[in-house]
Amino acid sequence: MNHFAGNNNHNVILLKFDESYSYPVFFTRDVFKISNYTLLKAIAGKKNRNNAKKSLVFIDKGLVSKNPELLKEINLWFEHNKKFFYLACDPVVFPGGESVKNSWEHVHRATNIMNDSALDRHGVVVVVGGGALLDMAGFAAAIFHRGIQLIRIPTTTLAQNDAGIGIKNGINQYDKKNCIGTFYLPAAVINDYGFLKTLTFDHFIGGIAEAFKIALIRDNCFFSFLENNSSLLKQRDQKTIEETIKRCAQLHLDHIARSGDAFETGSSRPLDYGHWSAHKIEMLSGFSMGHGQAVSIGIVLDSFYAWTRSLLSRTELDRIIAAFIKCGLPVWSPYLEITDKEGRLEIEKGLEEFRQHLGGRLTFTMPDGIGQSCELHEMDFNAVREGVAFLKKAGF
Ligand SMILES: NC(=O)c1ccc[n+]([C@@H]2O[C@H](COP(=O)([O-])OP(=O)(O)OC[C@H]3O[C@@H](n4cnc5c(N)ncnc54)[C@H](O)[C@@H]3O)[C@@H](O)[C@H]2O)c1
Repeated sequence: MNHFAGNNNHNVILLKFDESYSYPVFFTRDVFKISNYTLLKAIAGKKNRNNAKKSLVFIDKGLVSKNPELLKEINLWFEHNKKFFYLACDPVVFPGGESVKNSWEHVHRATNIMNDSALDRHGVVVVVGGGALLDMAGFAAAIFHRGIQLIRIPTTTLAQNDAGIGIKNGINQYDKKNCIGTFYLPAAVINDYGFLKTLTFDHFIGGIAEAFKIALIRDNCFFSFLENNSSLLKQRDQKTIEETIKRCAQLHLDHIARSGDAFETGSSRPLDYGHWSAHKIEMLSGFSMGHGQAVSIGIVLDSFYAWTRSLLSRTELDRIIAAFIKCGLPVWSPYLEITDKEGRLEIEKGLEEFRQHLGGRLTFTMPDGIGQSCELHEMDFNAVREGVAFLKKAGF
C-alpha cells in the first residue's frame, strides 16, 4: 500500500511504500519445441494475459550459427501459440559476445525495433543468448517505455548460472565494464540446458569460474562438489553440469533475495569477489579473453591474497588452484604482468575503478576459510605482485 507519512517538518513529505518482487527461473530442455509449455508458463500470471501479447525475439548470432534450424523452430513455436504470443517480426539476430555491449549502437537498434513494432508496456521482449547480449538487450528493454516485459533465455553456462538470472544489465562505456546500466527485473528466466552443447570449451567452462566464486564465499559443500567433480566438468558431463548450474543459480538468487541489498546501494559487492582484477584483465585483453576466464584468474589471485592475510590456509589455496586447473580454467595470464610507465601493474587501476564504481569506502570481499566471507578495505599491492609471480609459476 502506498502512503505518505507525515512529518513534523512542514517542508518535507516523506514517501514510503513497499513492493515485493518475484520472478521464476525455469529449468528445461528444448524450450522452442511445440510440446514445451515453459515459455507459456513464464508469462502466465502476468497482467493482461487475456490478450495475445505482441512479442519480439532478440537472438545471439553465435548461437544461431551453431543451430541453423533454431530461427525456423522459434517462428513455428510462436505461430503455434499465437493465441497467447505473436511475433511482431521475425527473430532479430544481434552479434554475440562483448562487442554487442561495447557501444550504444545495439541499444539504439533494439529500441528502434521496439518502436517500429509499436511495442507497448504489455509487449514482451524475449532475449536468447549469452550474458553479453542479455546485458545489452535487458538494458534496452529496461529503458524502452520505462521498462517492458523481459524474458531471458540464457544460452551459455555463465549466463545460466549467473549473468542471465539476476537483476542487472548494462553496456561498457568510458573504458569501464557495465558503466551504463540499470537494475531491472525480468518477468521470467528460462534455462534450457540443451543450448550448452554447441558452446566452445572456453565458453562452456568459463561459467564454472562463477560457480567456484560463489562456492568459495558462500558454500563449503558446493566447493567440495565442484572440486570432486572437476574432471567430469571438464568432460562436460551433462548430469554434473546441470547440478552445478542449478546450485550456483540458487546461491546467486538467494543472495539477491536475502542479502538485504539487492539493488547494491551499499559499498559491499560480495558477488564481485575476484572481479576487480578480472574486469581489468578483460579490458586489457581487448575482450579476447572471456569473462569467465578472466574471473577464474581474478579469483585465484584473490585467493592467494587471502592466504597472505591468513584468511585461507596453504592447503586451501592449493586445493583451489588444483581444482581450477583440473577443470580447465586458467590461473594465469600475461595481462597480469602489464605495467604502466611508472612500473605500476595495470590491474592495480582495476581496484581504483572498482572503488569508483561502488562509491564510498573501498570494500572487497574475500573468503574467510572456504565457504565463508569477510570484507577488507585496504589492499597491499606488494602482496598482489607476489601473487602475480606465484600464479605465473602455478600456471605453467
Ligand atoms: N548482468 C549480470 O549480472 C552479469 C553477471 C556476470 C557476467 N555478466 C556479463 O556477461 C558477459 C559474459 O557472458 P557469457 O560468458 O555468456 O559470454 P558471451 O555472451 O560473451 O558469449 C560468448 C560467446 O558464445 C556465443 N554463444 C552464446 N550461446 C551459445 C551457444 N549456446 N552455442 C554456441 N555459441 C554460443 C556468443 O555468440 C559469444 O560468441 C560479460 O559481458 C559479463 O560482464 C553479467
